[in-house]
Amino acid sequence: MSIQRNQLIQHNWQGLDGVNQGFAEAYYKKLFELDPTLQSLFPAKMQGQIDKLNQTMTTLVDAIDQLESMKPSLRALGQKHYFIYFAEKAHYPLFGEALIETLKQFSGDSWTDETEQAWRHLYQELVEAMLKGALSF
Ligand code: HEM
Repeated sequence: MSIQRNQLIQHNWQGLDGVNQGFAEAYYKKLFELDPTLQSLFPAKMQGQIDKLNQTMTTLVDAIDQLESMKPSLRALGQKHYFIYFAEKAHYPLFGEALIETLKQFSGDSWTDETEQAWRHLYQELVEAMLKGALSF
């Protein structure tokens, strides 16, 4: 990731309207609108998942300059997703679309094409690391 892309992401995330209140909840709402069948993979009570997503996003954005050092954990996370949560390669693009749509919704006028490209790039890197973990058997 380039320094400029990382800064765009950090700036965007820190400026989001209502990060700690509504973001993760809105994310899952969007995801299940895009594909209602995904809901069956998740627990009926989503609060734990919502809290984890808020935490994961904040940790990730804070440590974005050290993404390389997070890759072993991301590979392990990808493995867990594949074997325990039944997350397959084909699921990932939709999770990415829900992320972009929700970020856009919370960013309002501050959203730009460059910001979108920076997030898409980051998401692609995450997916590549997670799938490497999932499929390296
Ligand atoms: C870059 C993409 C993704 C990231 C960063 C991510 C991150 C996470 C994290 C951090 C957890 C909590 C894990 C733990 O408690 O140990 C989790 C749980 C979970 N994820 Fe993902 N995830 C991603 C994509 C996906 C995809 C594509 C699916 C598709 C099915 C998925 C389904 C799940 C499910 C079902 C759970 C467990 C829910 C529960 O039982 O509490 N995730 N995810």
